[in-house]
Amino acid sequence: MPGVAIVGTQWGDEGKGKITDLLAADASAIVRFQGGNNAGHTIVHDGETYKFHLIPSGILHEDKLCVIGNGVVIDPGVLLDEIEGLRKVGVSPANLRISSNAHLIMPYHVLLDTADELKLGKLSIGTTRRGIGPAYADKALRLGVRVQDLLDEKILRKKIMTALESKQQALRELSVRRRKLRKEGEPESDDVPDDRLDLHTLTEEYLAYGHRLEPYITDTARLCWTELDAGRTVIFEGAQAALLDLDHGTYPFVTSSNPIAGAACAGAGVGPTDIEQVWGVVKAYSTRVGSGPFPTEIEDEAGRHMSEKGHEFGTTTGRPRRCGWLDLVALRYAIRLNGTSALAMTKLDVLAGLDTIKVAVRYRSKEGAVLDEFPYHQTILHGVTPEYDEFPGFGDEVSDARRPADLPPEARNYIDFVSETVGVPVALVGVGPGRDQVIWMDGSR
Ligand code: IMP
Repeated sequence: MPGVAIVGTQWGDEGKGKITDLLAADASAIVRFQGGNNAGHTIVHDGETYKFHLIPSGILHEDKLCVIGNGVVIDPGVLLDEIEGLRKVGVSPANLRISSNAHLIMPYHVLLDTADELKLGKLSIGTTRRGIGPAYADKALRLGVRVQDLLDEKILRKKIMTALESKQQALRELSVRRRKLRKEGEPESDDVPDDRLDLHTLTEEYLAYGHRLEPYITDTARLCWTELDAGRTVIFEGAQAALLDLDHGTYPFVTSSNPIAGAACAGAGVGPTDIEQVWGVVKAYSTRVGSGPFPTEIEDEAGRHMSEKGHEFGTTTGRPRRCGWLDLVALRYAIRLNGTSALAMTKLDVLAGLDTIKVAVRYRSKEGAVLDEFPYHQTILHGVTPEYDEFPGFGDEVSDARRPADLPPEARNYIDFVSETVGVPVALVGVGPGRDQVIWMDGSR
């Protein structure tokens, strides 16, 4: 099984890191192909909790290559902090590889992200404010600074100069605001540029990053080809999820990259025929951070149960996640978009303790039409009411289950219903944060 993509099927935070970490046991390389440090994955290993934003989830396996592919946008300061963090807990970063073609997040991207959000006011996207959108915008405008530029001072200076020129107006407006705040004795907010934002300082700062990152920089597409051509398994680890996809998600309330499996090809430099399996990760319920439509959102007792028991706070921003029931209309859409071959259902244990569990099986439009498919027009999606099937709860705890037979019949029934309705097997079920808290549904492990 040379190429395996692992992707999110909802709005992110499905627990892809844990599934990647598990499946990585049979792989030789784990490759991230999009997103940046807007992502955050938590892995609990030997009782220790590890949080990563940029480094692929396979880093805890000593013998695996961990690749940051060309499709990722990299904030070098954040990456170096993560590398240092790994060293501190005794994990070697020696197997890390960074694509020379990946684009860099610059301090002005972070500032512009925040400034744009503030400008949008009530219409804001709720971004992570990590500079993701502006960095991808510069990539598309051909004003981006790439990882390889860090290794050539002349080029780096020239690229930063060109990029800065195009932002002068926006940055000037921000400076005026900073001066005004200073005059009024107001605390300066971090959306206003500071003194680091001149050509010389930026070039020096990024050159220094380049020196430290140089040992890891390489042609990562070629590295993937070597592994795949030798018949070894390469995992393509998605960040965010289908409903946050720039093309197929709930635009504009999306991220600025394509988290679907097809994007693994462009974002890692491999071909579609290199990917043989696509694992879709789905939480047993739904969550969303940031703004945008969320048909099955609930704010009742069950929602509070999910939030508290599921610790539903963003790994990256700490924001509380919106919670709701599992949405099979949206899931079917995500499954088809990704060409999903198997599902990994995470956090089943969080639902334990609820008397009744609901699953959305179709939508009803404002006009009363029955919608079995995810509507292509966002205005319709904003107005839909989900229709639910209801299931009895399955006791107080399932976190000790390790085999299908350990699960109460109500829980197995819930999993079977999901699998039959969406037409894809649920191959793996997560019942807690620990690496061993999983059930292989075919009983094979
Ligand atoms: P951005 O990716 O920071 O530009 O944010 C755009 C949207 O994607 C916002 O709604 C974010 O909350 C959401 N988002 C980005 N990354 C993640 C993630 O890893 N998990 C969940 N939501 C995310």
